[in-house]
Amino acid sequence: MAELKQQHFDSGEYWIKRHEEFDRSHQATGLLGSSERSNTVLYDLRRQALMEAIGSVDLSGRRVLDAGCGLGDFSRFYKERGALVSGCDISDLAAEKCQQAGLGTFRAGRLKDIPTLFPGQTFDIVHCFDVLYHIVDDEEWRETLDAFEQVSGPETVWYIIELARAKGSSVHVKVRGTRTYGQELAKRGRFIARDRRIHWLLSVFPRLHALNPRLSYAFERLTKWSPTAKAPRGALWTIKRGQA
Ligand SMILES: C[S@@+](CC[C@H](N)C(=O)[O-])C[C@H]1O[C@@H](n2cnc3c(N)ncnc32)[C@H](O)[C@@H]1O
Repeated sequence: MAELKQQHFDSGEYWIKRHEEFDRSHQATGLLGSSERSNTVLYDLRRQALMEAIGSVDLSGRRVLDAGCGLGDFSRFYKERGALVSGCDISDLAAEKCQQAGLGTFRAGRLKDIPTLFPGQTFDIVHCFDVLYHIVDDEEWRETLDAFEQVSGPETVWYIIELARAKGSSVHVKVRGTRTYGQELAKRGRFIARDRRIHWLLSVFPRLHALNPRLSYAFERLTKWSPTAKAPRGALWTIKRGQA
């Protein structure tokens, strides 16, 4: 049924409307229907996970592509650390707002068209949080991975937030899971070098998270303890050139 519905899902229309309806609110880009309090915590946890993934790498002067930039939360993260940010989003409103906020150079368009949106450019980091599982069309998803590869050099690192377990697709979400990704990445000479799960409490006890989102800060430590580390479905993957 979900497969059937996905065939009729127009992701462009969905995201353009969502950005217009929830202008500047994390209802446009975060967890739809959850409180602003919850989204603030979840964005915070994603930022912390990203900082861990980046480690001691100096971001100043690095060319970063924020693919599916939304409200520009992570474009701001990189810009504040001295990176040169470019970004794109299917919503022209989102891209325009990021441009107006002075976060970098932004274009409206689909991720699969990135090489055309930024002709001749390559990046040191391709950042793509919570976008790829919204590309429900498999062909467009593969074209998107090709597009990332086209704007990458041998040292380019991708930071991707994805859903690691292939279960629970819906109209605007297609979950492919670690194995499918591993196979597609291998075809492009890449692999998941680091798999850090995120949003432990939201994944495992969603009601507790909704009741008191701040509890999530304490529970996030469980992503660092091997018996519980892989419990969440959400994952921040560091993807590099090479083999697993
Ligand atoms: C869940 S939001 C995440 C936004 C941002 N990455 C963040 O972490 O705040 C998904 C974003 O991807 C954009 N988007 C969805 N499908 C896209 C596509 N095929 N090409 C470009 N942007 C897309 C949406 O407009 C939305 O801003």
